Amino acid sequence: MFNMAKRFGKEIRSAQRTGRSVTGLLVLMWVVGCGGVFTGIPDLDTPDGRVFAQRCGACHGKPFGDHGVTHGVPDPRFRTIAEWEKELLNMDRLIHEKGLPPLTEPERGAIIRYLSRHAKS
Ligand code: HEC
Repeated sequence: MFNMAKRFGKEIRSAQRTGRSVTGLLVLMWVVGCGGVFTGIPDLDTPDGRVFAQRCGACHGKPFGDHGVTHGVPDPRFRTIAEWEKELLNMDRLIHEKGLPPLTEPERGAIIRYLSRHAKS
C-alpha cells in the first residue's frame, strides 16, 4: 500500500511536469480500477450479459488482467447478429483448441440473446 501511494505520488508529479492533468490520471485509475463496468459495453450485469462476459471474457481481455488496461469483452454493437453467428462458430473452434469446455446450449442461447439484443442492425 505504501509503495503504491509512493508510485502514484510519483506518477502525479510526473503528470504535472508533463502537463497532463492529474484529473485525467485519476479518472484513468478509476476506470481501470473498476474494470468492465465503465467500458460502455451494455447490460453486462444481466443474466445473459453475465454469461457473455464470463464465457467470452475467458480469453478476451479480463478487465482485471495482469497487464493493466485491456480491451475487455468484444462490443456487441460492432456486428450484426448474422456476423455474430459466424463469429461464434470461429470462437467454438478456438474454445476447442484451447481445451476449454465447449459452450453449453443454455450458454449459447444466453449469448445469442445478449448479442441479438445489442447487435448492429
Ligand atoms: C479460447 C479463447 C477464446 C474465447 C473463449 C473467445 N474468443 Fe474470441 N477470439 C479469440 C482469439 C484468439 C481471437 C483472435 C484470432 C481470430 O480472430 O481468429 C478472437 C477473436 C474474436 C473476435 C474478433 C475477430 C475479428 O474478425 O477481428 C471477436 C469479435 C470475438 N473473438 C468474439 C468472441 C465472443 C463473442 C466470444 C464468446 C462466445 C469469444 N470471442 C470467446 C479467442 C477466444
